[in-house]
Amino acid sequence: MSLPVKTLKNGFSLPVLGLGTWKMGGDRHYNPDNDDQKDIAAIQLALELGFTHFDTAESYADGHAEVLLGQGIAEHERSALTIASKIWPQNMAYDNVIPSLRASLKRLNQEYLDIYYLHEANHDVPFADTAKALNEAYQEGLIKNVAVANFLPETFDKMQSHLQMPIVANQVHYNLMNREPVVHNMLEHAQKNDYLIVAWRPIRFSHRNHDAKDVWHKGEYPIVDEMAEKYNKTNIQIALNWLANQSNVVTLVKSSNPHHLNEIIQSIGWEMTAKDTERLTQEFPHQRHVSEAVPLS
Ligand SMILES: NC(=O)c1ccc[n+]([C@@H]2O[C@H](COP(=O)([O-])OP(=O)(O)OC[C@H]3O[C@@H](n4cnc5c(N)ncnc54)[C@H](OP(=O)(O)O)[C@@H]3O)[C@@H](O)[C@H]2O)c1
Repeated sequence: MSLPVKTLKNGFSLPVLGLGTWKMGGDRHYNPDNDDQKDIAAIQLALELGFTHFDTAESYADGHAEVLLGQGIAEHERSALTIASKIWPQNMAYDNVIPSLRASLKRLNQEYLDIYYLHEANHDVPFADTAKALNEAYQEGLIKNVAVANFLPETFDKMQSHLQMPIVANQVHYNLMNREPVVHNMLEHAQKNDYLIVAWRPIRFSHRNHDAKDVWHKGEYPIVDEMAEKYNKTNIQIALNWLANQSNVVTLVKSSNPHHLNEIIQSIGWEMTAKDTERLTQEFPHQRHVSEAVPLS
């Protein structure tokens, strides 16, 4: 299956669904007991199913998620893929950016990244310094595009003013429950400024700070159950389709489980009506206005 893409006016595009790698290889730190082969097999299955956008970060499992992603995509035609990684805020001083980027490329066994994200804003480092290094990395061909994550619109504008190239995406916590990006008018900001909102954590709602049930639990969110029944889909497929239906929005979902990946890919290729999409937007219960995972700044 070839996934539909969202294309910006400047020509940059991303498929509506991409594969995330948070928790592949460990948590924040590398887990030596991790089942690496399972994660690599999941990436390879995702490629077979039609995923072409893969997201990782230097901070995932101490960089081991990048190693697994590199191994998973090794046999695939590189030009058909969009590979994204992220630099952690503590590495955003001018002198640290290119060494961090080169270390990510080495772990991934790649010559370039399609997207290099600033993982969160670092307000202690002059934005001009970080941007200078990114401009150089772009000139050298080490990165094809720059993006940001968890940036408020005003922070986005400030960083953009120092960059030679357009920021193509802001990756933010956005799902049926977490509406913080909407509170900050980020969808409008993305549409107006021609970039994509990449919605992270689209289906997992539980978190160490609260006990919300994940979207796949039947009986927790009656409106999702109702839509799932109406369209003969699963709750996860409803939650992902809801995101994919929105202008300038694509999403990233993580799974290392083949059954889950097969379920996820079937979120696309059909559409809820605009009325049902709007009902989910309005009527989904327990909406949150501040991310419990990563705050915007
Ligand atoms: N920029 C940022 O600050 C930031 C922050 C967080 C995440 N992200 C990115 O966004 C990606 C997605 O977010 P996420 O991984 O946090 O959350 P998510 O994709 O919403 O949820 C992942 C969890 O859902 C489970 N799952 C997947 N499909 C399922 C299914 N069909 N049925 C039941 N469970 C299922 C996965 O377990 P299995 O593996 O067992 O399927 C995993 O535990 C990340 O991997 C990462 O690349 C970015």
